[in-house]
Amino acid sequence: MRRAAGLTAALLAVAGCTTTALTDPAPVTGGDPERGRLLITELGCAACHQIPGIDQPQGSVGPPLAEFAERRAVAGQLPNTPENAAAWIRDPQRVEPDTLMPDLGVSEREARDIVAYLYTLE
Ligand code: HEC
Repeated sequence: MRRAAGLTAALLAVAGCTTTALTDPAPVTGGDPERGRLLITELGCAACHQIPGIDQPQGSVGPPLAEFAERRAVAGQLPNTPENAAAWIRDPQRVEPDTLMPDLGVSEREARDIVAYLYTLE
């Protein structure tokens, strides 16, 4: 129950005017979800995160990224928007200096693709 209430609140806060962001992320993020999925595989994000659709062993150093679009905050620090999620992925230490998540040298374009994929997760 607690989870359902949180989810409703998150949807109201994040989706606000529209729910199409959850089903068709490309126009919202400007990224390509399929390229994002390949980048996630190449960069090894699953070593630390459980990520649906990634065919690799999955670790749990970081939080699971399932239902990412429904999260209210990125790393508990920033409102969950495509821009903020991309900023986090490009340079986590800029947001949270002592985070365990490494800077993996992700470009702006790559970050948009990765976020597009993460926003498809349910
Ligand atoms: C060495 C482990 C590690 C790797 C590799 C890693 N992360 Fe993380 N990630 C973390 C940790 C730890 C956190 C939690 C940070 C915090 O809240 O302080 C995190 C947080 C996140 C968040 C925010 C999640 C949330 O619920 O707020 C996203 C999104 C994310 N990582 C995406 C990625 C992507 C994409 C990659 C690959 C490019 C990646 N991570 C690689 C450890 C990692």
